[in-house]
Amino acid sequence: MPTLDWIGKKAVVNHHREVPYRLLRCDEKLSMGDPGSGNLLVEGDNLLALKALLPYYAGQVKCIYIDPPYNTGNENWIYNDNVNSFEIRKWLGHVVGKEAEDLSRDDKWLCMMYPRLAVLREFLSEDGAIFISIDDNEIHNLRSMMNEIYGKKNFIASIIWQKIFSTKNTARHLSESHDYIVVYSKNANIWRPNLIERSDVANKRYKNPDNDPRGPWTSGDCSARNPYNAGIYSIKCPGGRTISGPPKGMYWRFSKEKFEELDKDKRIWWGKSNNNVPRLKRFLSEVKEGVTPDTIWFHKEVGNTQEAKKELLATVQFDNSASVFISPKPTRLLRRIIEISTNKDSIILDSFAGTGTTGQAVLAANEADGGKRRFICIEMESDICQNITKTRLNTVLTEYKKRTENSGEHKIFDSGFRYCKLAYPIFDKTGQIHSEVTFADLATHVFFTETGEPIPKQPKKKETSPLLGIVNDVAVYFLFNGILGDKRANGGNILTSKVLAELPVHKGPKVIYGEGCRLGISRLKREGIIFKQIPYQISVS
Ligand SMILES: C[S@@+](CC[C@H](N)C(=O)[O-])C[C@H]1O[C@@H](n2cnc3c(N)ncnc32)[C@H](O)[C@@H]1O
Repeated sequence: MPTLDWIGKKAVVNHHREVPYRLLRCDEKLSMGDPGSGNLLVEGDNLLALKALLPYYAGQVKCIYIDPPYNTGNENWIYNDNVNSFEIRKWLGHVVGKEAEDLSRDDKWLCMMYPRLAVLREFLSEDGAIFISIDDNEIHNLRSMMNEIYGKKNFIASIIWQKIFSTKNTARHLSESHDYIVVYSKNANIWRPNLIERSDVANKRYKNPDNDPRGPWTSGDCSARNPYNAGIYSIKCPGGRTISGPPKGMYWRFSKEKFEELDKDKRIWWGKSNNNVPRLKRFLSEVKEGVTPDTIWFHKEVGNTQEAKKELLATVQFDNSASVFISPKPTRLLRRIIEISTNKDSIILDSFAGTGTTGQAVLAANEADGGKRRFICIEMESDICQNITKTRLNTVLTEYKKRTENSGEHKIFDSGFRYCKLAYPIFDKTGQIHSEVTFADLATHVFFTETGEPIPKQPKKKETSPLLGIVNDVAVYFLFNGILGDKRANGGNILTSKVLAELPVHKGPKVIYGEGCRLGISRLKREGIIFKQIPYQISVS
């Protein structure tokens, strides 16, 4: 498969692995409503934030939506990743500008996107998919990069979204009315879209001209280009006309016997004259529960950019509406993505959250069907995150709660979100564990870096166990901060015969992290133990 190369590629393809793990800290004052709802709004650069979230959510996210800078030359995005490469370091801190001034604009964009797309893939569940908004500036590069990271075979579609419905006569060349939404699955053999609820327009196509007691129907062709098992035969219409066979080059869809059976059941429509070419009746009551999503999404169904701005202005007070500069997406667009790609309990991740449209769409979907979907939204700009994203989500939550309280029809909608900020890295520059890191923080990190899976739910603090979990029959133990109750320096953190005897029993192989080990090599071998020393043998990134 041909692959794309660009300035800085070598330095970034593994960058997501080098980014240090940080901690996230919740700010209760900025959070809202029920903290147990599982929704998160994270303020910070998404590469760092994603790395911090990975130990908790790896392989658990069903739907990722991102709307990154399109690299039009008119946005003010800055490439600022801490990549140790000469050619990249000179880009840092400069606004990525117009083509004429900035010949490396595409290189910078690719360097920014590659590690983020790579780490996002680690969040997807096996039946998950990622949806990426983009336009013609970078779609070709995005597709190449996605083929490399997600695999060409997992490409699903490039959806066309009609973002604008009136022609711009001032356009220099053609008036551009669409964006793309590029979709890749983690595994195309597994991922399947949900059907879209039938719209009234779709239902109106079903009529009942013959008052069939089975209700409204629409009709389909009885002939096809494929022979199936049916063939070519003549048919006598109830009105007396004989049709010598299907149209030229085609075949009847059904055998003669099947045809007669359908006609007897009044499933064949011969037209009002009873002499037309036969058509098969398809009853609304019998068609699939919904419609298969297609690749062109019209603004009437999923909204447009104007609608998106209005929605934002209805939820956030701006001093001057010109400051709605982030190009929000309409909630209906996100509702469509959520409808086709999530279940009622899915996690939806948006790491370029902007004004929080994804968060609002998740809340709206839950309000509509009583679901318990959770969102994780990440926004880098503190000003946007605190004053726009958070405010919008607050307004929406308050509105929904009020509406359900007043309606008396459904259960009160009581949700919320935690507002988190990035804290310090788990390890300091000398490789030592940061003094404020707790047992729970480090245990989560150790379990994930050891097994690649999020740590299983741990018992309440009082009963914290040194056995963190078992994956593929390998048990992971963690001796840290006097976990066995001995608070003396190093007490319980050193693997001795006594400590081993106190550990919860696991008959299979064991990985034990501790500050030291007094057991000999042959004893470790006999007990099936791999010992790893804290902090040196904990993976730092
Ligand atoms: C086009 S906007 C997204 C708009 C969003 N879909 C909405 O409906 O409001 C892109 C957002 O990504 C944010 N962003 C850019 N780089 C980021 C990064 N490295 N980490 C987190 N957010 C970032 C920008 O601040 C901006 O708010």
